[in-house]
Amino acid sequence: MAMLADKFTHLFREEHRKIRDTLLKLIQAFQERDKARILILINQATTYKGLHFRYEEEALYPYLIGIFAEEYIEKLLRVHDRSIGKTIKLIELAGKESITDDDIAKAIRFIRTELSHVSECDGLSIMTEILSEEKIKWILETRDRSIKEGLNLIDWAYQVRNRPAVFTD
Ligand SMILES: [Fe+2]
Repeated sequence: MAMLADKFTHLFREEHRKIRDTLLKLIQAFQERDKARILILINQATTYKGLHFRYEEEALYPYLIGIFAEEYIEKLLRVHDRSIGKTIKLIELAGKESITDDDIAKAIRFIRTELSHVSECDGLSIMTEILSEEKIKWILETRDRSIKEGLNLIDWAYQVRNRPAVFTD
């Protein structure tokens, strides 16, 4: 069981690393107003987040309800709602003819918020350690399916997910 929990912790951290590094590069691309790179990196982040959020919501979060209060799980879901809404706005912003200083400041503020969620989320693996082998197996299988189906954040949000995105500034 420890082995499976360790495997999960390792994979989970690897995904967070990939998301972290993409977000950091995205901040840099905005600072440099490198539009081509901004678009590539947003695309990459949107893919990584889609695969990751999906199995978190479909398998991981439900198992955490018995550990955390339900309100906390709701809070985690709301973080995703906002992340989806803001990502949609970010894509719009990046597609604009000319990006203003204000746009850049806004984009970087959002990306830094996302970074704080990356580190907060990574801490959840301290709790998955105490789940049964069967539950960890299910989380890993759900993860595999999410990767195989390959829906990015936006496609998953519109085609599969059962909660509305939240658009805030
Ligand atoms: Fe996460």
